[in-house]
Amino acid sequence: MTLKLFRRARIYTPTLGAAPAAGAEQGRIRSVEDGAFLVEDGRFAAVGSASEVEGSLSGRTPDQEFDLGGAAVVPGLVDPHTHACFAARREAEFSMRLAGRPYLDILKAGGGILSSVRAVRAASEEELFSFSRDLLRRTLHYGTTTIEIKSGYGLDLDSELRMLRVIGRLGRETVQTVVPTFMGAHAVPEPFKSDPDGYVRLLTEEMLPAVAEQGIARFCDVFCEEGVFSIEQSRRILLRARELGLGLKIHADEVNDLGGASLAGELRTASAEHLLAASDEGIRAMARGGVVADLLPATAYSLRKPFARARKMIEEGVPVALATDLNPGSCYCESMAFVISLAVMEMGLTPEEALTGATLNAAWSLGMQQEVGCIERGRMADFLVLDGETPATFAYLSGARPIRSVWKLGERVA
Ligand code: NIG
Ligand code: FE
Repeated sequence: MTLKLFRRARIYTPTLGAAPAAGAEQGRIRSVEDGAFLVEDGRFAAVGSASEVEGSLSGRTPDQEFDLGGAAVVPGLVDPHTHACFAARREAEFSMRLAGRPYLDILKAGGGILSSVRAVRAASEEELFSFSRDLLRRTLHYGTTTIEIKSGYGLDLDSELRMLRVIGRLGRETVQTVVPTFMGAHAVPEPFKSDPDGYVRLLTEEMLPAVAEQGIARFCDVFCEEGVFSIEQSRRILLRARELGLGLKIHADEVNDLGGASLAGELRTASAEHLLAASDEGIRAMARGGVVADLLPATAYSLRKPFARARKMIEEGVPVALATDLNPGSCYCESMAFVISLAVMEMGLTPEEALTGATLNAAWSLGMQQEVGCIERGRMADFLVLDGETPATFAYLSGARPIRSVWKLGERVA
């Protein structure tokens, strides 16, 4: 049993309600100016003013004490949407995009996601693990203490299972909490190019049951997009995943408005992702279905597209979460800190709304809200000491690292 006392902290944290923070709640943050907290065996044991927390010691002496010098302390960041398991970068393709070639065009020509599929299939399990472990290490530096990682660069049963094994091992062997998502429906692989429904059958009849049986994924995600999976195919895949006990996510209306947001609302998925082109009706359907919007502003930035309409979503009562989308193609972004600064500067979120999006709402979209995403008694003691006094530090020091230290389960890890 180790007991650690942290003093002189300006604590900023969303507080846990019965649902993810939506509307006015999104910006409601508990702040304690001369704050302190106790960590016992990796969990927050008390949080409050210095006198409250010292009072709760009731005669015990902490094993260690830390003076945080009045710096802002926020929950460890939760990145609820990444493709951070891959084997190679795609910089040449980035240059093609800079020269004006559309993202979906590159995929159609057999590049994009399909080129990452070739790289992942060619890599050994060990190579895939060590490449991805290095990626995770860098995300930790920018404050990510919990991370969702999708498969989806395998696109056949064996390669997808191999990716999910690697993702599971990342969870065991890195300091971060890792949430695995099966995304066999990331693209239609070459052999099924002229028979996409055949691939949907493979997904629903063989791949999903095998994934569910092995218990190696918590969610199933689908890339619902023109030339990838239609609304009808996405619905089939997601319903089958639900039947097998998996949580649901959907890449919806990223490039074109196919009605993915409405499908998310209809199916009451845990989250809908991207939503750059989501319609008003789609947004209202998400609000009705209690769907969290996982917004990925670094992807809009990297694809040079208009940002998702975060303010409209908040107004309509959709809880907004933020994520990096870290992947080798549409968005190579390791930094949740950068994502928060984009959300504030480009999507018009207040620093408090953005903080909620990058912590508690992100945790909700992963079903992890009882474990991470806020600084409250009983939660994992994951937190950041910022290089400033308020959550606005993320936007103020944009492009720099606004973080002094990163703590996971009460240990300093970066
Ligand atoms: O979220 N849109 C689909 N999937 C990723 C991109 C993956 C890739 O290009 O490798 C995304 O943008
Ligand atoms: Fe994605």
